[in-house]
Amino acid sequence: SEEPLLAGRRVLITAGGTIERLDPVRYITNDSSGKMGFAIAAAARRMGAEVVLVAGNTSAGSFPEGVQHVQALSAQEMYDAVLRRLADTDIVIMAAAVSDYRPKSVAPQKMKKTGENLILELERTPDILQTVGQRKGKTFVVGFAAETEHLEEYAMDKLQRKNCDLLVANDVSQEGAGFGTDTNIAQIYNKDGLLENLPMMTKPEMACRLLRIIASTLEAAGDR
Ligand code: PMT
Repeated sequence: SEEPLLAGRRVLITAGGTIERLDPVRYITNDSSGKMGFAIAAAARRMGAEVVLVAGNTSAGSFPEGVQHVQALSAQEMYDAVLRRLADTDIVIMAAAVSDYRPKSVAPQKMKKTGENLILELERTPDILQTVGQRKGKTFVVGFAAETEHLEEYAMDKLQRKNCDLLVANDVSQEGAGFGTDTNIAQIYNKDGLLENLPMMTKPEMACRLLRIIASTLEAAGDR
């Protein structure tokens, strides 16, 4: 059993990949399974938190018990679901893989093929983490970064630009890390730089480590 390190804390976690529709039967998505976010939600619940899990497209199995589940398939839906709850949340952890682009127009009917090539025009989606960082007030904000190179440089840049309290950087080019796997490898940064190096471990183990770091950071800040 887990120590109630997060008793009374309201924690919102995003998980999975977003789906950006082209037409009623086609969409753009990514390889996120939701395993990392589900593991964080389950562990936060075991540590006594009140948990809201905002989930996109997932293949991680059933939702953790005792957790409030909100479905938000597109980046826009996830943005709305997170921002609506921000003021009532103590800790936000953004483990979802949100699409940076979506089709500029969504066809109301199934698109028909022609003899020509097809060019899709994509537009930017709203940046949820950035908006949360701007409006966070007292909420503790944890971002994720999926990188394939220059991990530390990109992680610190993201942490600062998006005004996160912690950033979890996973090098998704490494075997045993990132999208779809049962394990992950990550580095946790705060504004002063590298805080903790997490070698390969299962996502549930990593979820516990991350939440303990969050709890002790909050405690050190005198917020308890
Ligand atoms: O789901 P799994 O299969 O278990 O895989 C886990 C994971 C690899 C998806 C997870 O560990 C992870 O790294 N999640 C973040 C993936 C990602 O989209 O990283 P990014 O570097 O593109 O985005 C940085 C941060 O901004 C993320 O917190 C993301 O949620 C957020 N973001 C990105 C784009 C956008 N429009 N809005 C956002 O809020």
